[in-house]
Amino acid sequence: MLFSHLLSLGALATTTLAVPSLVVDGKDFVNPKTKDRFQIIGVDYQPGGSSGFSKDKDPLSDKEACLRDAAIMQNLGINTIRIYNLSPSLNHDECASIFNAAGIYMILDVNSPLTGGSLDRTAPWESYNPKYFEEQVFAAIEAFSGYPNTLGFFAGNEVINEDSVRQVPAYIRAVQRDMKDYIKKHVDRAIPVGYSAADVRSILDDTAHYMMCELKNSTSSRSDFFGLNSYSWCGDSSYKKAGYDVLTEKFSNASLPVFFSEYGCNEVTPRIFTEVQALYSQEMSQAFSGGLIYEYTQEDNNYGLVKVNSSDTVTLLIDYANLQKQYEKLDMNRIESSNVTQTSVKPVECSSDLIKDKDFLNTFDIPKRLDKIQKLIDNGIDKPNKGKLVDVSSTKIPTTVYDHNGKKVNGLKLNVVSNDQSNSPGSNKSGGSSSGSGDGDGDSDSDKDNAGVKTSGSVFLGFLSVVVAAFLL
Ligand SMILES: *[C@@H]1O[C@H](CO)[C@@H](O)[C@H](O)[C@H]1NC(C)=O
Ligand SMILES: *[C@@H]1O[C@H](CO)[C@@H](O)[C@H](O)[C@H]1NC(C)=O
Ligand SMILES: *[C@@H]1O[C@H](CO)[C@@H](O)[C@H](O)[C@H]1NC(C)=O
Ligand SMILES: *[C@@H]1O[C@H](CO)[C@@H](O)[C@H](O)[C@H]1NC(C)=O
Ligand SMILES: *[C@@H]1O[C@H](CO)[C@@H](O)[C@H](O)[C@H]1NC(C)=O
Repeated sequence: MLFSHLLSLGALATTTLAVPSLVVDGKDFVNPKTKDRFQIIGVDYQPGGSSGFSKDKDPLSDKEACLRDAAIMQNLGINTIRIYNLSPSLNHDECASIFNAAGIYMILDVNSPLTGGSLDRTAPWESYNPKYFEEQVFAAIEAFSGYPNTLGFFAGNEVINEDSVRQVPAYIRAVQRDMKDYIKKHVDRAIPVGYSAADVRSILDDTAHYMMCELKNSTSSRSDFFGLNSYSWCGDSSYKKAGYDVLTEKFSNASLPVFFSEYGCNEVTPRIFTEVQALYSQEMSQAFSGGLIYEYTQEDNNYGLVKVNSSDTVTLLIDYANLQKQYEKLDMNRIESSNVTQTSVKPVECSSDLIKDKDFLNTFDIPKRLDKIQKLIDNGIDKPNKGKLVDVSSTKIPTTVYDHNGKKVNGLKLNVVSNDQSNSPGSNKSGGSSSGSGDGDGDSDSDKDNAGVKTSGSVFLGFLSVVVAAFLL
């Protein structure tokens, strides 16, 4: 009797355990329950590089790898991952639920590197077609909007560059408009949609202004957030030398959250990540909502934090240890305190005098929506593959992990965060240190791991779920 009572309670507790879905308020991401500001502390997650992607395999389709990586990322101290290439028809429930349980949000590009899987920067009018929306963009929205830890969607990544035609910015706004209208019609929360830009300083202002200005005749085409891929801080640089002062000045008046969607120059190795202290400093953190380090796994381009040697061994590289130390120095209370000056910012209206570069598009005629795309928005796509949270059944990682000295790291496992919490730096202090506690198994020890977890209430529910989990084991 008691057992079955606990069982049903257990099912309830584990399936409802979730990070709080975030909202955009002025130029901040905000936890709507606590009103705390959310700063992205993240990594780009692209195991195998873009060539590691296929229609049958994406970074959120391999449960074992997700469990391993979520535990390692949790220990690193991050709260967000960005994923570039996703195949909407696959089942992502296990992976998304694992990252949710780890207190890690996901920012997802709705595109794929396959033909027709993204806007063509040389002929956007050709790729802006119903097939692209049905099979990729709207399908991705359906696949990922059921997860509370989906923080946002990128409509495009670096589509504007030296090869792009003049009309591209208007097409990006058209894709954002269609995505936001689809979300409004078919999703029960306003998942933010944004654009990720290359750091081309000559057109950065124009790009940002074009995406964030308000258009009375096309309100939904506006970006909800702005990502910047920036590699200007190399080695032990400085705020001025790396031009972070200029970026801070540029974005201090932004009307939406701005963050580094990629950073972490590797011209000097090993990386020591001193830019982390600059990015989250009092000054810069008013203009920026944090950032994502490029990138989690070691690939040919040498930006990795960890080396996946095989499915059963992983090495945490020296960059991982260096980044972890930088994160541990952050004062999370300061970083996450709310600020009404930030949340009361209002967007500026679009007008051609916002645009300075003569080659940058300075008109705001957003391409008309095709009838077939309108139909998809009205009726939803056919047979959507809708993701939803599932119970996370295992917290042990089936992988031997070594540190950069080749020493075995013991005790790494997924620490399920309590309801309404997300991960934050310092999780290593209790969770996966090499203190020799061995493989934990979800016992009551793991519930003291909250040193590294951002608490926002409901400790009781968390406690309850741990008790229930222990009972079920
Ligand atoms: C930011 O906005 C304030 C108030 O509108 C204005 O005084 C200031 O010049 C702006 N700064 C920049 C860099 O645009
Ligand atoms: C894994 O890869 C790292 C980095 O290349 C290397 O130092 C380490 O020896 C490898 N470990 C195993 C077990 O192969
Ligand atoms: C709040 O934000 C404003 C504008 O972004 C900034 O000038 C101010 O220093 C912030 N206040 C605190 C306490 O951080
Ligand atoms: C929408 O408004 C913008 C800016 O005011 C203007 O440039 C554009 O021509 C308008 N588009 C339509 C279709 O009216
Ligand atoms: C945890 O942090 C300590 C101190 O910063 C460090 O020495 C240790 O290597 C870390 N453990 C892991 C698994 O990262």
